[in-house]
Amino acid sequence: MEEKKIRQLIDAARAGREMAYAPYSGFAVGAAVLGCDGKVYTGCNIENASYGLTVCAERTAMFKMVSEGCTKFAALCVIAGETPADSTPCGSCRQVMSEFAEDVRTVPVILAGRNGEYEVHTVLELYPAPFMKFELEQ
Ligand code: THU
Repeated sequence: MEEKKIRQLIDAARAGREMAYAPYSGFAVGAAVLGCDGKVYTGCNIENASYGLTVCAERTAMFKMVSEGCTKFAALCVIAGETPADSTPCGSCRQVMSEFAEDVRTVPVILAGRNGEYEVHTVLELYPAPFMKFELEQ
């Protein structure tokens, strides 16, 4: 993925972060997915007084994409604290990424820090043994 596109996705994730609803943890997270329809969908974490109902920024972005009629993404970016390590996705989000990534072997997940640093990993690197649709079809 070219640098310019990566920077655009980081900017979108940063804008998503502005909407974070995180009154309990105080930890704001933003995400952006580039859908295979060419559109960028942003997301933020959305917490709840019943803590376990919290939804992460990555899933918010992916579910927005799916709810708009696009079920595959070509790239995903997440941004939280100062370093890329602050924005590594949780296991639930990694499983959901595996469902909607166009190709888990190649789709980049960009872990961005607010100072402009970022790391890129494929979905498969982050989540090597996803539970997939074909397993239900045996
Ligand atoms: N969170 C995300 O939104 N994405 C992640 O990758 C990890 C955690 C949120 C959930 C919760 O609102 C807050 O960060 C603290 O766990």
